Amino acid sequence: MGPLGNGFDLEAYENEGKRLLVVGGGIGVAPIKGLVEALSNSNHEIDVIIGFRDLPYLDNELKKHSQNLIVVSENDASYVLGYVTQPFESALKSRAYDMIFACGPDIMLNKLAAIANGSGNKIQLLMEEKMACGIGACLVCTCKTREGDFGFKHVRMCKEGPVFYGSEVIFDEA
Ligand code: FES
Repeated sequence: MGPLGNGFDLEAYENEGKRLLVVGGGIGVAPIKGLVEALSNSNHEIDVIIGFRDLPYLDNELKKHSQNLIVVSENDASYVLGYVTQPFESALKSRAYDMIFACGPDIMLNKLAAIANGSGNKIQLLMEEKMACGIGACLVCTCKTREGDFGFKHVRMCKEGPVFYGSEVIFDEA
């Protein structure tokens, strides 16, 4: 069954010539492959940062469709050692982007959103969450967004998400 819910908001990127930054972490690298391929058909300038615990996957495919690819590994020194947040911060300091797209674990998306929000950059987050019914009934897949009378609202990834702007999401602090 699927795909479920919404997708990245790409309406503004049908025209050519935007500067875009795409970030993926772990299994979150798989969903960004299709995004980068689709965006590259419209002649955007695309920088990609992907992060892994050990060895990368899809790096060769992503390289073909982007201007710059940075591969980060937590454990393998043949790549940039560390986490995607470090090259992400450097990228935002060195150039302006029209939009950032990211997919990966909550802890990574939380940090990227904080950096992007703090520097006035827009970021779209493809959130990862376990789903059960997939039709909006069981409420297993909720996250919090900033809205409503109480300052937050629970929304369903399988219906209202799984893509949200970084300025909308309230992450649980670890
Ligand atoms: S998976 Fe059941 S409400 Fe989303």
